[in-house]
Amino acid sequence: MRLLVLGGTRFLGRHVATAALDRGHDVATFTRGISGEPPAGVRALRGNRDDPDALPAALRGWSPELVVDTSCRTRAAARHAAAALGGVHGYAFVSSLNAYRTWPPGPIGPEDDEPTWESDDDEYGPNKAFAERVIGSAVGAGFLTARAGLILGPYDYVYRLGWWLDRIARGGPVVVPAEGFDQPIAVVDARDLAGWLVEMAERGRAGAVNATGPAGMATLGGLLETCREVTGGDADWVPVPEADLLAAGVEPWIHLPLWLPAETARTAWDVDTTRARDLGLPARPLVETVRDTWVWQQTDRRPFDSPNGLPRPGLPAALEATLLPPP
Ligand SMILES: NC(=O)c1ccc[n+]([C@@H]2O[C@H](COP(=O)([O-])OP(=O)(O)OC[C@H]3O[C@@H](n4cnc5c(N)ncnc54)[C@H](OP(=O)(O)O)[C@@H]3O)[C@@H](O)[C@H]2O)c1
Repeated sequence: MRLLVLGGTRFLGRHVATAALDRGHDVATFTRGISGEPPAGVRALRGNRDDPDALPAALRGWSPELVVDTSCRTRAAARHAAAALGGVHGYAFVSSLNAYRTWPPGPIGPEDDEPTWESDDDEYGPNKAFAERVIGSAVGAGFLTARAGLILGPYDYVYRLGWWLDRIARGGPVVVPAEGFDQPIAVVDARDLAGWLVEMAERGRAGAVNATGPAGMATLGGLLETCREVTGGDADWVPVPEADLLAAGVEPWIHLPLWLPAETARTAWDVDTTRARDLGLPARPLVETVRDTWVWQQTDRRPFDSPNGLPRPGLPAALEATLLPPP
């Protein structure tokens, strides 16, 4: 079928384009052409989705039957997609857990029991919730919104796992959160999510889905141990209590990526994924995600980019030095 990826040249969207090709579709991406080219074999349509005329112009002569939307961040982009693509058979939209008004901190139960943002604020979560409503009502029965949790894998330019891999590979004493080490976490591999999104669009599946791994599939400490195994580094963990990290000015999630203070972490990682599992969203072993990200990072590393204006992840050396015991 003719499958359009709105996005498709960076991370998740790139994997979607590849998965769609592998499944035999005639694939096009729609991007501004700033962040690079789609995978070989894909038709590269150009335009800015914030421009109301761009999508209709690009689609003249090539009319998609399926859409996977990985690039929607603005209300204008949502309106224009709704206007141009309401008639497709299946539309899989990539949203976020941030679409929920109560996340973070969560917890998040079954999708239909949780409220999403309805405010007019021009912010990430409210914009995703708006897009779900406006595109969902244009497409109707074939609209699925995947409220994604943390997405990891090769081509991840957000550099959260990437920073841990680089730091642990460098070895020596590595600051880790003492209480956070055993914290259960859940992630989704971009390739698992991508293939599943294509399948959901093909099947015209509808509704909201918490699109992440099973709660408790790993712990933060287990992920870090996997990074140590995969990189072969000789890192020694230096567990630092949460109170000391916060007192030193360590910013959760930013300076120590994936770390949240215990009170938030307990509920933020607690997301019901029963529907995702019922609909067959795969959850490959975490070691594959970590290993393949490490291989990619060493061979084809891309510069960090901030999706939401967040700073580059990682613990600055000067701050790290204040937390380590004297040599
Ligand atoms: N990373 C996470 O952990 C996480 C968690 C939850 C949800 N999400 C969601 O997952 C998705 C991941 O996206 P990704 O960056 O990996 O997808 P991607 O499709 O691989 O990359 C983003 C694409 O959007 C295009 N784009 C950006 N602005 C555009 C515009 N105004 N008009 C047309 N094209 C535009 C970019 O190309 P050009 O720059 O060339 O235009 C690029 O191809 C996002 O929707 C994000 O909200 C991510």
